[in-house]
Amino acid sequence: MPLVTTTEMFKKAYEGGYAIGAFNVNNMEIIQGITEAAAKLNAPLILQVSAGARKYANHTYLTKLVEAAVIETGLPIALHLDHGADFETCKSCIDGGFTSVMIDGSHLTYEENVALTKKVVEYAHAHSVTVEGELGRLAGVEDDVQVSEEDSSYTNPDEVYDFVTKTGVDSLAIAIGTSHGAFKFKPGQDPKIRLDILEEIEKQLPGFPIVLHGASSVVPEFVDEINKFGGKMDNAIGIPESELRKAAQKAVCKINIDSDLRLAMTAAIRKYMAENPSHFDPRQYLSPARDAIMEMVAHKIEFVLGCANKA
Ligand code: G3H
Ligand code: 13P
Ligand code: ZN
Repeated sequence: MPLVTTTEMFKKAYEGGYAIGAFNVNNMEIIQGITEAAAKLNAPLILQVSAGARKYANHTYLTKLVEAAVIETGLPIALHLDHGADFETCKSCIDGGFTSVMIDGSHLTYEENVALTKKVVEYAHAHSVTVEGELGRLAGVEDDVQVSEEDSSYTNPDEVYDFVTKTGVDSLAIAIGTSHGAFKFKPGQDPKIRLDILEEIEKQLPGFPIVLHGASSVVPEFVDEINKFGGKMDNAIGIPESELRKAAQKAVCKINIDSDLRLAMTAAIRKYMAENPSHFDPRQYLSPARDAIMEMVAHKIEFVLGCANKA
């Protein structure tokens, strides 16, 4: 099966009350860990590439690694641009074999966001590629840009119908209290997301796929392991799995996860290095890192996303 768009997987996810995991990929071990878990559980998958990932690993390397994963697993996999900042980046990914792109105009005025998103949709749809837009603004760090809590804003449910009909997007990322990175809540804060806003949005857009960014759980076991083996990640707090499960049963069809991959990998490498100080073959410490990713993704597929056996 070749790479697929998100159309079919979102339709089935919405109807089935589950979500697809969208995992950020930056190298071979990350791609292998994620796809091995999905293959074992027969789960559909979105592999997403940020501008930072393209800069780090190169567009062609990442595309070819993902194509290799499709050959190896036979799974329906969408290759998606994460946080496309402008038309040119989206066009380059569409021309370069991606099956889905995000145009992130969430920092623009409403009118500018509509105009830019519409332009990307026109080009993407002419090339059979699906498009994710964003309304509302998440807090956190992404591609070295830090959005403070004061500058973040929840999605206004009164705007979503107008935005979707004017732009023609295939899915919509919303801001309901998730945020990028490993420090999503302050200690003592109730780590809840605004499921009431999600429900309002669903009323305005029945049947339409919604996307959650910044949705890592910041798995406490990884944070503890990192701290135990010389790291310093005090007060790292993520979105509770119970909140994500509720969102996945509602209109959320795509859940973005990057920080949990980073934490799984870092925890495994720190532990390996601490326990094997004389080893220096990268295959020795990258193997447990890849295994840790595989186990974490398998857990998400079965117990958070609910997309096992939906490929
Ligand atoms: O939302 C951002 C993702 O975590 C990607 O992060 O831009 O550092 O690759 P990155
Ligand atoms: P996390 O930082 O919560 O993993 O979010 C990743 C993301 O939204 C990528 O677009
Ligand atoms: Zn994001």
